[in-house]
Amino acid sequence: MPVLEIVNYPAPILAEVAQEVPEVDAKMRELLSDMVETMYAANGIGLAAPQVGIGLRAIVLDTGGEEPQLIKLVNPVIIESSGTSKGEEGCLSIPEVRETVERFDKVSVKGLDENGKEIVIEADGLTSVCLQHEIDHLDGVLFIDRLTRVRKQLVKGKLKKLVKKQ
Ligand code: CO
Repeated sequence: MPVLEIVNYPAPILAEVAQEVPEVDAKMRELLSDMVETMYAANGIGLAAPQVGIGLRAIVLDTGGEEPQLIKLVNPVIIESSGTSKGEEGCLSIPEVRETVERFDKVSVKGLDENGKEIVIEADGLTSVCLQHEIDHLDGVLFIDRLTRVRKQLVKGKLKKLVKKQ
C-alpha cells in the first residue's frame, strides 16, 4: 500500500468537480486504502481523492476522539444539516494556512462504503466539519473559498508568496 503524493494549491485539479464513481471495485478499494495510508503518513484527519490527483468522488477520514473511527466514503452527499458554528481549519493541500470557517454543526451524509453498500453517517463536532471539508474538495471547493472576499484575497496573496518561494 503506497503512500501517494499530495497535490498542493494551486494545482488545477483542486478546483475541479470530481466524477461519480460508477462502481466500487477492487481498484477503488485499493485507492481508498492508499488514501488512508497517505492521510496517516501526513498526520491528517481527512483526505479527498482530488488531493492525490484523482478526480473521483471518494473521501477518507479519521478524526479520532472518544470513538476513533476510520471512514471511507464513495460518492458522499450531505442529505441533512442543522446549526452552524465557526471553527479553525487547515488542509493538507494548503500547508501553513489556518483560517476560521463557518460549517454546519450536524450533518447526515449518504454514500457507499468500500463494499459498495449504501450507508448513512450522522456526525457532529470535528467529524461533521471534516466530512463537509472533504466533500467540498469533491466539488472543487477549498476551505479558503469559504472565507469572506477580503479575507480570501489576503490569504491568496500570502499563498502566492509561499508558492514563489518554493
Ligand atoms: Co482539505
